[in-house]
Amino acid sequence: MKPRKFLAPAAAAAVLALALTACGGGSSSGGSGGGDAASQNMDGRGPITFVSGKDNSGVWQPTIDRWNAAHPNEKVTLKEQTDQADQQHDDLVQHFQAQQSDYDVVTVDVVWSAEFAAKGWLQPLKDKMAVDTAKLLPATVKAATYNGTAYAVPISSDGGLLYYRKDLVPNPPKTWDEMMGMCSIAKAHDMGCYAGQYSKYEGLTVNAAEAINTFGGKIVDDQGKAVVNSAEAKTGLGKLVDAFKSGNIAKQALTYQEEQGRKAFEDGKLLFLRNWPYVYNLAKTDGASTVKDTFGVAPLPGMSGPGASSLGGHSAAVSVYSKNKATAHDFAQWLIQDEQQKFFALKGSLAPVASALYTDSDIVSKLPYMPTLLTSIQNAVPRPVTPYYPAVTKAVQDNAYAALQGDKSVDQAVSDMQAAIDAAGH
Ligand code: GLC
Repeated sequence: MKPRKFLAPAAAAAVLALALTACGGGSSSGGSGGGDAASQNMDGRGPITFVSGKDNSGVWQPTIDRWNAAHPNEKVTLKEQTDQADQQHDDLVQHFQAQQSDYDVVTVDVVWSAEFAAKGWLQPLKDKMAVDTAKLLPATVKAATYNGTAYAVPISSDGGLLYYRKDLVPNPPKTWDEMMGMCSIAKAHDMGCYAGQYSKYEGLTVNAAEAINTFGGKIVDDQGKAVVNSAEAKTGLGKLVDAFKSGNIAKQALTYQEEQGRKAFEDGKLLFLRNWPYVYNLAKTDGASTVKDTFGVAPLPGMSGPGASSLGGHSAAVSVYSKNKATAHDFAQWLIQDEQQKFFALKGSLAPVASALYTDSDIVSKLPYMPTLLTSIQNAVPRPVTPYYPAVTKAVQDNAYAALQGDKSVDQAVSDMQAAIDAAGH
């Protein structure tokens, strides 16, 4: 994307409208209304397609089977994408740009809501399309809201957790420096010490933001202005860079997304892993897991106490191009009912969106780390909320990656990151 100077909201809307015309997203108002398409097919009922990232946890087909058994005339078909966040995003963008009606309900990562809503691709969930989200965690609802309008129904939250080998480290580290000190234990056992997600994609933005936020920095301020060129942010990013330099994070982790790290941990090749809750169930039940009974879960380690997780999670949005929006609405609403939410937690160890489920006795007895997860999510820091998110995340990824690889100093990386975020429209 061409660097742009900071734009006032009106000018930004004009640029967006131009971009939309250029890419054929013609029916959009470029604002919160969603244009013509948003006023059509609201009473439509019939078969729909639900689009989601690869179902590593095996929760979707059984859920959809339950829905289909009860709704024989409004059957849902599952369309699985890959398990990589950026590819999921690009697949949705292509379908929306072509105004295709075959993606009725789509899974939207918390960081895409603003972009997709501003482009007029998501059905505003108001009036007859409204969904009652009163029982949900406020942060999940906020992440699905743009300019005061709900555009999606939160279906799973996500907070970073520290997976650790409790057979080798009986008391998990509380701080980052303490964890780095424990890397001698990994060395003595001929295994890697720590990894997160450092491949150049959305997961790197998550991990870089966590390092920066944990040490008191911020990427953007409350007004959306880039403020990442700070001493605190340098300290945070510097901690990751130092860990790569010392080998506490292996060079190989520069290729890691969520799944590569999970597999390394399950293979017994890592002492500590930063990952999302879905890993818990798989590390416990996967035939290939060698750590079924030897791992524990703790809060992410921080500066002097728990670290700051990036807020993750996904919502279900109704495409403005869907022909069967009444069915799409009902299906999205059904996904947040306790039965479905409990199933996601018990079967896939996914983080519920309903706050009460964090103390549900069935869930807590199977997933003892639920209080830790709730704390992680409640204290999680959202990534920047902006229609220009693709350019913002690219600014973070490119520069963090260059620093981790040793191609740029940390000072240069945060300074370039700030300039690139500003150029993205902030
Ligand atoms: C998880 C999170 C999501 C994040 C992604 C990065 O799926 O829920 O918010 O963007 O990981 O890979």
